[in-house]
Amino acid sequence: MREKILHLLKKYPQEHVSGEKLSEQLGVSRTAIWKHINALREEGYNIESIPRKGYILRESPDILTAVEIQGELHTSLLGKKIMHFDSIGSTNDKAKDLALQGAEEGTVIIAEEQIKGRGRRGSQWVSPKGKGIWMSIILRPDVLPKNAPKFTLLSAVAVAQAIREVTALPVQIKWPNDIIYQNKKVCGILTEMSAEMDFINYIVVGMGININESIKDFPEEIQGKATSLREIKGENISRQRLVRSILENLEKFYLEFVKEQNFQKVLELWKSMSGILGKEVRAMGNNDVIQGIAVDINQEGALIIKEDNGKIHEITFGEVSL
Ligand code: BTN
Repeated sequence: MREKILHLLKKYPQEHVSGEKLSEQLGVSRTAIWKHINALREEGYNIESIPRKGYILRESPDILTAVEIQGELHTSLLGKKIMHFDSIGSTNDKAKDLALQGAEEGTVIIAEEQIKGRGRRGSQWVSPKGKGIWMSIILRPDVLPKNAPKFTLLSAVAVAQAIREVTALPVQIKWPNDIIYQNKKVCGILTEMSAEMDFINYIVVGMGININESIKDFPEEIQGKATSLREIKGENISRQRLVRSILENLEKFYLEFVKEQNFQKVLELWKSMSGILGKEVRAMGNNDVIQGIAVDINQEGALIIKEDNGKIHEITFGEVSL
């Protein structure tokens, strides 16, 4: 009901909508309308009411509900269905459950807060309420599972591009898919997949982006390594605009790859936004550490490292540090 009221108020941005009209169109009493309006005000909506004229929406909060995101979203696949939670364990876990139950490709799960946010390699991902974007997207690409690493790169390129568009900050990508600014992490991506030998059942791309946190919102042990877009820019950033831009960019690169088999553009963008190519890096795999210059990424998305002695390594998984 609250969504329907918002739709109607947003439809008439310049005029007051009477309680009577709302109650007639939505088939509930005027008292019920009034209660919902008050609940919306508690969510942060600034709704003015004038006796005998009705209600007008003056300002909306920066929350990531379907109504707010879809209003100006220009996509044909991603975000047609958006599920928003005030608080959740992990959006990736929820997305995987839904994918198993047959959720459609493009379904987006967003939460204001995660209690059990997960990072790569079993780490914890701190996700304070209303401060960042904690979002997972369900994809069902009709390509062979060996292509999975490409979706990791593709997502990083889409998020980096979106952050650049919305904030004008020259963020960079650290292989495979961290987004960094001056070597501090602003975004991490956790891609999870369920597949058979020759068939991808689903891919869940989960992204955590630090937007409006201040440094003290991060646990002490990561305060030197992480930052937020607000800390860098010195002003609040619209989470809604960024979510829309991410979905639009991701859809563009995703469809180019799965429909037109064109991955070249993503590779080029990845390289142009890379924060590590040409630099000395340490790559930590399961048991070994490789140190050398990050010289390239190949068509499959593997990182190529050249050691001092000239030996070339192709890294397909692990962590890289500068
Ligand atoms: C990393 O370790 O860099 C990846 C972090 C991924 C965090 C995001 S937040 C939304 C989604 N849900 C999770 O539990 N994790 C991912």
